[in-house]
Amino acid sequence: MPDRNVADLPKVELHLHHEGAAPPGFIRQLAHEKKVDLSGIFRPDGSYDFRDFAHFLSVYEAACEVLTGPEEFRRLTLAVLEESAANDVVYSETFLSPDFCGGGDVAAWRDYLAAIQDAADEAEAKFGITLRGVVTCVRHFGPEKAKAAALCAAETSGDWITGFGMGGNETVGMQGDFAWSFDCAREAGLRLTTHAGEFGGPESVRDAIRKLGVERIGHGVRAVEDPDLVHELADRGITLEVCPGSNVVLGLYPDFSSHPIARLRDAGVRVTVSTDDPPFFHTTMRREYEMLNRAFDWGAEDFAALNAIALDAAFCDEDTRERVKTRLEKP
Ligand code: HPA
Ligand code: ZN
Repeated sequence: MPDRNVADLPKVELHLHHEGAAPPGFIRQLAHEKKVDLSGIFRPDGSYDFRDFAHFLSVYEAACEVLTGPEEFRRLTLAVLEESAANDVVYSETFLSPDFCGGGDVAAWRDYLAAIQDAADEAEAKFGITLRGVVTCVRHFGPEKAKAAALCAAETSGDWITGFGMGGNETVGMQGDFAWSFDCAREAGLRLTTHAGEFGGPESVRDAIRKLGVERIGHGVRAVEDPDLVHELADRGITLEVCPGSNVVLGLYPDFSSHPIARLRDAGVRVTVSTDDPPFFHTTMRREYEMLNRAFDWGAEDFAALNAIALDAAFCDEDTRERVKTRLEKP
């Protein structure tokens, strides 16, 4: 008998793009305030309109045009965290791109970050959710822009900005092209993750580990196509930030039942569950849990183990980890 209450469990989310979590109504409101015509990026029902991954990225970037300053990011952060907390997320790591927050200028980035952290403090007090930031470069903006993002990350590395990663179009360039930026971030004490094995095959996951030295992989699910790589991921204890609903909407797999998350988990790979860009992919953390429960009959114990892995792989300090652990154990 499937456990229908799994959606209520407290949750840890590791893979969330900050702008990609913006509710479409929030972006429409900003467009209205700024008199910007963004009608082309919405469907008649009000949701974001895109055909495929490349088009998704261009719609995403169009939505970012109205996120013009720190105040917009303060409002965005509050909206995103209210929604995450409504999904019983108790700890979240969000991807923040200096490219969309000041264009890679360190002083401007500091202003955006101050506003985001301020909102995160307010949300923690109001909704009980803890947020940490992972700075991301955007792959299709190229290695030079990535260096500016890495320098922003390095300058603000600490208890709150705890990691560095890369999103964007995985079919453009090679992981190794970004080695300078990942080395820079590592030297500044940041933990590392990158998108791989979503639109790239198993070789992109190998490259991420060998060329960038990451300890987590965004998605990584296509590793399942190479049994040796699956063993390597399990042996090395690499954590996958798996976003099943995102993969289904973008056409990697036809449905949850065909998704490799259960096969990867059963092969000993450390898998976690996240939403990626929830309103774009018509999902929430509650829905991800419900769909996994239906597809694989995962129950409370399975999700408790999943959350324990996610918390262990979180880039936060040990005091924060202990605090969140208590929230997971005694919701
Ligand atoms: N994947 C890759 N890059 C991104 C995404 C995503 O879902 N959202 C924003 N940048
Ligand atoms: Zn992503």
